[in-house]
Amino acid sequence: MDVKNSGRGIPFMTFYLFLLLLSAISVLSHASSIAFQIKGNVYPLGYYSVNLAIGNPPKAYELDIDTGSDLTWVQCDAPCKGCTLPRDRQYKPHGNLVKCVDPLCAAIQSAPNPPCVNPNEQCDYEVEYADQGSSLGVLVRDIIPLKLTNGTLTHSMLAFGCGYDQTHVGHNPPPSAAGVLGLGNGRASILSQLNSKGLIRNVVGHCLSGTGGGFLFFGDQLIPQSGVVWTPILQSSSSLLKHYKTGPADMFFNGKATSVKGLELTFDSGSSYTYFNSLAHKALVDLGPKPFKSLHDVTSNFKPLVLSFTKSKNSLFQVPPEAYLIVTKHGNVCLGILDGTEIGLGNTNIIGDISLQDKLVIYDNEKQRIGWASANCDRSSLM
Ligand SMILES: *[C@@H]1O[C@H](CO)[C@@H](O)[C@H](O)[C@H]1NC(C)=O
Repeated sequence: MDVKNSGRGIPFMTFYLFLLLLSAISVLSHASSIAFQIKGNVYPLGYYSVNLAIGNPPKAYELDIDTGSDLTWVQCDAPCKGCTLPRDRQYKPHGNLVKCVDPLCAAIQSAPNPPCVNPNEQCDYEVEYADQGSSLGVLVRDIIPLKLTNGTLTHSMLAFGCGYDQTHVGHNPPPSAAGVLGLGNGRASILSQLNSKGLIRNVVGHCLSGTGGGFLFFGDQLIPQSGVVWTPILQSSSSLLKHYKTGPADMFFNGKATSVKGLELTFDSGSSYTYFNSLAHKALVDLGPKPFKSLHDVTSNFKPLVLSFTKSKNSLFQVPPEAYLIVTKHGNVCLGILDGTEIGLGNTNIIGDISLQDKLVIYDNEKQRIGWASANCDRSSLM
C-alpha cells in the first residue's frame, strides 16, 4: 500500500494556520519548536509517518514515527539488503561516517562491552523491534534542515543510522517508508541531539487523528496550559532501553473496576495496536467485546475502557471503543488490544497507535512525565 494515496492528512490550510499560530507564540516566548505534518492511519496502513529532509541538497525521507526506539535511520545505498526504496532514493553515505570513539556511538551500543577497538572504526548499530523486524547499519552525520516555528531555518549536523541490512518480520518498517524516526529519550535520538544544541526543549508530542494524519512536534510550545493529565515516566534500570514507561494503572470497563490492576504501560507510537500481557488480555476478552456489524453498533453498546494511574491523582486515560476496536474492510470487528505474550513481549504492556488516536500526547523528558488531552488532531483546535 502506498501511503501517499491515503490522502487523509490535515487539510493544507489548517496545518499552515497551525504553523502561523506557533510562530506567533515563538516570537513572544523566545523559544522554539519544530512541527511536522503526519500522514498514515491505524487501519489499513498500520503506521503514521512524517517527511524528514536530509543532506545538502536535501532529500525527503518518509519515516515511521516511533516513540518506542531512539535511533533514527534511513535505508542506505551501501549496497542495501532488505531495502524497499528504489536505489536513487536511498541515502548515500559520503565519507561522513561517525567514528566509534564518538560519544553518540557509545549511546547506541551495548554498554558493558564497548566493541570499539580501533577509535577510527566506523560505528555499527543494530536495532531490533518488538515485531522482530530489525535494521543493521552504520552511524553517519549529515545536515538536517529544520524550520523552527519562530521562522529560523536551522541546518544542524545530526547523527542517524544508515541502514544497509533490514529484516521485515512484522510491519516495521512499513513497506513504503524509508526508515524510522526514533523519538525515544536516549542520547542518540534526534530530539536529544537538537536539545543538546540548545534549539528546543527535550519534549516531543503527537496528535494522531482517527481519520488519518495528524501532527508531530518537538519542543514545549504546544503544551496547553490546562486540560492535560500528567503521569511520571518510570525510570528504567537499564540505561540502554529508555522507553516511555508509565504506571502502575488499574483498568476499569463500563464504569466498573476489573481484575486488571497494577499494569505498567509503555507509550509506543511505533506499535499499531495495543498489547497487554496474557493475563490482562484474557481478563479483557472475558469482559466480552462480541462481534458487531459496525463500529457504530459497537460504540453505542460499549462504555469506554479506562486506565487509572494510581500514583498520580486523577490521571485517567480514556480508551473509547474506537481506540480499542477495528472494523475490517469486510465489516468484521476485531479487538485492537492484542496478547503481547504471544508475540514475545512477555510482561510488557504497550499503548499503541490505536489507543493514542484523537489525543494530544506529550512526552516531556525535561520533567520526566507523559501527558495527554483529548484533541481534534485534524485541526489546531487544541491551542
Ligand atoms: C529562533 O530560535 C532559535 C533557537 O532558540 C534561535 O537561535 C533564533 O535566533 C531564533 N530566531 C528568531 C528570529 O528569533
